[in-house]
Amino acid sequence: MRILPVSSGKGGVGKTTFALNFALALARTSRTILLDLDTGTSSLRSFLDVKVERDLFHFLKKGQPLASCCQALPATMDPEGAFANFSFIASPGGFVQDIVNFVPEVKEKLIAGINGLQADYLVVDMKAGLDHNVLEFLPLSNSGILLFTPRLKAATATAAEMAKAVLFRMLGIMLSSPLLQGRFAPGPDEAQASVFQRLRDFLESGNGDPGGNLDDLIGEAAARFPEDNFLRVFRYYLENYKVYYVLNQFNSVAESVENTIKPFVEEIFRSASSKVTFHNLGWVVEDEQVRRSGETGVPYLVRRHYQKRQAAPPAPDADARLREIFGLGPAKPPPGKKKDLARELSGQLDLLRKIYVFNAGRDPETNLDFIAARARDLSANSVHQFGMKRIFSVQEFLERFQSRLT
Ligand SMILES: Nc1ncnc2c1ncn2[C@@H]1O[C@H](COP(=O)(O)OP(=O)(O)OP(=O)(O)O)[C@@H](O)[C@H]1O
Ligand SMILES: [Mg+2]
Repeated sequence: MRILPVSSGKGGVGKTTFALNFALALARTSRTILLDLDTGTSSLRSFLDVKVERDLFHFLKKGQPLASCCQALPATMDPEGAFANFSFIASPGGFVQDIVNFVPEVKEKLIAGINGLQADYLVVDMKAGLDHNVLEFLPLSNSGILLFTPRLKAATATAAEMAKAVLFRMLGIMLSSPLLQGRFAPGPDEAQASVFQRLRDFLESGNGDPGGNLDDLIGEAAARFPEDNFLRVFRYYLENYKVYYVLNQFNSVAESVENTIKPFVEEIFRSASSKVTFHNLGWVVEDEQVRRSGETGVPYLVRRHYQKRQAAPPAPDADARLREIFGLGPAKPPPGKKKDLARELSGQLDLLRKIYVFNAGRDPETNLDFIAARARDLSANSVHQFGMKRIFSVQEFLERFQSRLT
């Protein structure tokens, strides 16, 4: 199972709307669960007009297995079962103090429950904000999908903070390793200890010397202890940190690049590191039907599916539709070897990507199918490690990290 948290930093940028429809788009071909972790202010319940039988309260307080809290769409909403691969887990309807604030036992139980779920994808609708309730649920080492919007300038800055916070948390945990604490303890080599401490302070506070960033500190460390394998491992994690993002309420390519993507990337390069890489998974245009779906309780993609069924002959499957939209002709028969198929699909997706960029898919359904296709492609590509397979506890993460140091 791949875990794909949808986070934003800033509230109100469309996380719930996107998480819901993205999960539905993935569910056209893969078993997908949508988990509502926006406990306390959950809006999934109002976005989905479904009577919730069991929610996180039953899992956390009533001893029910998490899987038993998964609910499918009712037949009245999805009569043909077009989204039969989709299910969701709602957060409690009322205010439950320790669930809202994720006290440690709740957190541990949730993580264990999540890791035990059976599906191809788990899309998680996160709370807004940058506090530990959010950060501790983001898998260590990548931030899932970050959503922000060119419509809200402040959302770009907060998204950059979010991407940095996940990176700094991961690297900070590494530096808390007892093995390194011993290796760089003040004493034998004051200069080494001081660089190490500054690195720790930087990650903890998110700030360095004016104008300084992680790359500068690593440069200093490399001059002080060039032979230490810690730096090699540390750099490895940093260089493999990838930010996957989606732009919601997208307006135009030129404007988005200039006013949103550029400042976002620049801010991370400037104040964190220029080693971070970025992957734009796509965008969702501003759309009246998407906005209204939030009020009617029927998700945009579901409504759209049944509208089209009424108006037109049977819709081709998502993959075929993408090909058609982008004028790629019919699919080629799959070649014999699995490896070749993967290469072929990946090549075709590259092509789609290029065409997509030039065509700027104008309706949200095309947008969402494209993002789902990208997500499938990336998660099948081991270089990306897109979507962690499980949520690691800090302890497990530290053990893995330390095993690389010795
Ligand atoms: N692509 C879109 N086009 C039009 N309206 C949209 C789009 N995406 C989201 N909206 C609208 O924006 C509003 C906020 O969306 P949503 O509740 O999904 O945001 P959120 O990030 O989950 O908010 P919160 O931080 O409060 O959880 C809703 O009214 C929703 O219908
Ligand atoms: Mg929300």
